[in-house]
Amino acid sequence: MVNILITGVAGFIGSNYVHQVLVKNRGTQIIGLDKLTYAGNIENLTSIINEDDFIFIKGDICDRKLLEKIFHKYEINQIINFAAESHVDRSIHDPQVFLKTNILGTQTLLEVAKTHWSIDTSWKTGCKFLQISTDEVYGSLGAEGKFNENTPLDPHSPYSASKAAADLIVQAYHDTYGIPMNITRCSNNFGPYQFPEKLIPLIIHNALHHKKLPIYGDGRQIRDWIYVLDHCDAIDIVLRNGISGNIYNIGGNNELENIQLVKEIISILNELTEDSSICNNLIEHVTDRPGHDRRYAIDSSKIESDLKWQRRFIFSDVLRTTIQWYMDNPVWIDNVITGEYQKFYEQNYGNR
Ligand code: NAD
Ligand code: TYD
Repeated sequence: MVNILITGVAGFIGSNYVHQVLVKNRGTQIIGLDKLTYAGNIENLTSIINEDDFIFIKGDICDRKLLEKIFHKYEINQIINFAAESHVDRSIHDPQVFLKTNILGTQTLLEVAKTHWSIDTSWKTGCKFLQISTDEVYGSLGAEGKFNENTPLDPHSPYSASKAAADLIVQAYHDTYGIPMNITRCSNNFGPYQFPEKLIPLIIHNALHHKKLPIYGDGRQIRDWIYVLDHCDAIDIVLRNGISGNIYNIGGNNELENIQLVKEIISILNELTEDSSICNNLIEHVTDRPGHDRRYAIDSSKIESDLKWQRRFIFSDVLRTTIQWYMDNPVWIDNVITGEYQKFYEQNYGNR
């Protein structure tokens, strides 16, 4: 029996992952842990919260006592660590919580896992720690080349520095104690349930409200966009088949300048809403982000050749369905912005 602890389960990628896994792999017992920060919303899990094979626990990955209880009670044998403070701009304004959750939280999880999984000099069969990391740990590229797994770490923001530190701690627990682990480093995700502070949902939300669309600097920075469910497929494959100790890069093979992407979103919105006032005039170039990385691009050939991962989704199709999802769920956006979901959780699930 696989009893898997999924941290950050109420966030964007964690909630998409758990929906996908529950649909595909009945029989896996999922323990979802989330602190429910501003970015985590229990409503993202509404359709599965009452399923027998899903248990939700509100809590912090830095809380060792709570982790000990969870490990003991549910005999956890795998962890996927999605929990993190995840937004670069917030990390520039308030770095400390990033260091606490992303670094110390990861180390606390590792320590508890080590205690429960090690037997003399070996490890419990099937146990694995999977750290969900980011391409941002590699820093910034010039016009040429892509990040591969051997690219040296060179993070620039407090967010990416904290994620790089977490990756190194995970590697240290593997190299020192032998804990079975993998690290995945993915490019920029998009899809349903993404908090509207990140570029794509922010642009959709602002445009639908005829608000200005802020573009940092010249808008010619490049990101490699991947649909969240392609990322989730890759995570699932690494969890099952990844060779312990290995890092796997995951990319969308889909580089776009921010300004190009924003114009594409405007054009789709224009078509879907038939509202001609949603137009490029809404774009406003604003002061650039300090330390802004210019270009990210991922070489995914290792996971493609070693683990046979392939992307399933076509960017233009899923960009459109993502935009449609945000148009169909205005209440979701309003609620995450105003914190209604936290109140909803306390009222409905506070005593679980
Ligand atoms: P998110 O901000 O949407 O979700 C993070 C979740 O973690 C939230 O539900 C939040 O409540 C929870 N959390 C925060 N601090 C916690 C703590 N101390 N204890 C327990 N839970 C806590 O982020 P996301 O976009 O879903 O990203 C998930 C993971 O994937 C992160 O580790 C991030 O670094 C990584 N990642 C994200 C992207 C991306 O494009 N979004 C790309 C690559 C990697
Ligand atoms: P973001 O979604 O914050 O992801 P990350 O910084 O982790 O790549 O930003 C994506 C890109 O969009 C990044 O180059 C910054 C830029 N950006 C803007 O130009 N305007 C915005 O309002 C936001 C949030 C981001």
